[in-house]
Formats: sequence, C-alpha cells, structure tokens
Amino acid sequence: MLSQRTFSIIKPDAVRKGYSAAILAEIEKAGFKIVSIKRLSISKAQAEGFYYVHAARPFFGELTEFMSSGPIFPMVLEKDNAIADLRKLMGATNPAQAEEGTIRKKFASSIGENAIHGSDAEDTAAFEIGYFFAGHELK
Ligand code: CMP
Repeated sequence: MLSQRTFSIIKPDAVRKGYSAAILAEIEKAGFKIVSIKRLSISKAQAEGFYYVHAARPFFGELTEFMSSGPIFPMVLEKDNAIADLRKLMGATNPAQAEEGTIRKKFASSIGENAIHGSDAEDTAAFEIGYFFAGHELK
C-alpha cells in the first residue's frame, strides 16, 4: 500500500540497554520516515489502556508492569506498506523464533522483553497513533 503510517514503540528493555539509536538506524535504513517521536514514561494504567485488547491474557499484568517500568520511545513511521514491512523488520514476537537480521533477533531477550512494538493492522495503527500523538504532532 502506498505511503502508509504505522506506530511503533522502542520498549523499556531496549532503552535501558542503550539500543535506541541502533534500532532507529535499522528503521531508517529500511526506508521508513520518522514522522514523529518522543521519549516518555507511562503509568501502569496508561499501559493497560494501550494494550486493552490483551486484557484477558494471562500475561497482561506482566506486560503492563514491564511497559511502565522505564522510558519508551513511541513513534509514527511512514513508508509504502509500512505496517507489514515494520512487522517483517521486527521479526517474530518471540526473539527465539525471530529470523536472522531482524530487530528482535539482534536486540530482544524474551517474548515479554522484546525490544519493539509495531501495529498489526490499519485500525490498530490508527488507535495506537492517537493514543500517543496529537494531530499537530503528525505533520
Ligand atoms: P507487542 O507486539 O507489544 O504486543 C503484545 C505484547 O505482549 C507482545 O508484543 C509481547 O511482548 C507480549 N507478550 C506476548 N506473549 C507474551 C507472553 N507469553 N508473556 C509475556 N508477554 C507476552
């Protein structure tokens, strides 16, 4: 799809380990334009709101605890076919199953602490972008 936007987060594990710039470099090298980015910490309640679709999962507590454990870099990315291409670049959710050369293979340590998030569809991308960015930050 032509010039599509997606949403991504560099997660607390990757920020703590000092991988943020290296991950951004991978993203730019793959042809994504960084439309907007910020560094912030979120509360557990804010993480619960972001991941509400996973509320019934057994790992919801662990996931939202982790996502509120330190600074993150939420960002909006743009390129042709951005949603699918970012997911390819990230690799499998579980880094043990991620392909060689993917961000999770290089920088993630476990299924929970997996370095990066990327939207899985257009409707979730729209929700996730709106959760972290106002319209005036997305020109
Ligand atoms: P993400 O793409 O951010 O969306 C939901 C997250 O839930 C996912 O990445 C994983 O980090 C996390 N997750 C999925 N399965 C598990 C699991 N079994 N244990 C802990 N976290 C998980």
